[in-house]
Amino acid sequence: MSAEIIDGKQIAADIREELKTEVAALKERGIVPGLGVILVGEDPASKSYVSAKEKACEAIGIFSDDNRLPADTTQGQLLERVEQMNKDPKINGILVQLPLPKHIDEAAVLMAIDPDKDVDGFHPMNVGKMMVGEDTFLPCTPHGVLQMLMRSGVETSGAHVVVVGRSNIVGKPVANMLLQKKEGANATVTLCHTRTKDLSVHTKQADIIIAASGWPNTVTADMVKAGAVVIDVGVNRVEDPSRERGYRLVGDVDFDAVKEVASKITPVPGGVGPMTITMLLFNTVDSAKRANGVD
Ligand code: GUN
Repeated sequence: MSAEIIDGKQIAADIREELKTEVAALKERGIVPGLGVILVGEDPASKSYVSAKEKACEAIGIFSDDNRLPADTTQGQLLERVEQMNKDPKINGILVQLPLPKHIDEAAVLMAIDPDKDVDGFHPMNVGKMMVGEDTFLPCTPHGVLQMLMRSGVETSGAHVVVVGRSNIVGKPVANMLLQKKEGANATVTLCHTRTKDLSVHTKQADIIIAASGWPNTVTADMVKAGAVVIDVGVNRVEDPSRERGYRLVGDVDFDAVKEVASKITPVPGGVGPMTITMLLFNTVDSAKRANGVD
């Protein structure tokens, strides 16, 4: 039997509707949440992500301050722009699109963002708070994954979750968030990566698989237990001459085959992708509320 498709677009739309109502209520009190966005260089994928983030802000009433800086921007110039945003009361969240050009020290830039405006949840202070279970900004993609599981009725408590991939943006934080002693978490987590000896030994035992390796077909049907839930975080461009743009997007999971084994599965596109931006909006609204003492 074919798996139920977890519709990320619909779940994202539901949350954005909730946020739109919240933003309207904040505006009644004279509060307009603001997001400062910085993109350095011309990477096409980054440009399209940043445009999507800005459009999403506009759609729910968040003010966005768009900063497109040339590829030869120095680290000093970038840090100066971040500092201006740290001081600007109209800006509640700061997003520096990654990856940055090679001549810029990414960690130094992330450290320079005021932790109270770190709506990506990448600042080490917020990463630490997340790890010990304190209330803080949660990184957007992992938070989106947890929301998808919760809102599609997947029980994580006591479930064995196998995460594939150990990036700072997805693998490490999602593993951490799922093992917290909290609603929507409480899972037993195995974190697999490129040095894992036999990936399928682990994935076959999983009640929930979270694929975040960055490679197409990392998870194939023979690696999945019947009835498992499969969340695909991957976004990979593969050549496809039949498409006008010359490529198509696929995830890290062999979707067509795995959907015949899993009980629930996320598609690519239309799965985790729309959730990432949604949780960025969520964090920006949350930051505006914190800055203005609104519960
Ligand atoms: N690049 C890829 N994903 C992200 C993200 O979630 N935030 C930022 N700032 N850059 C990214």
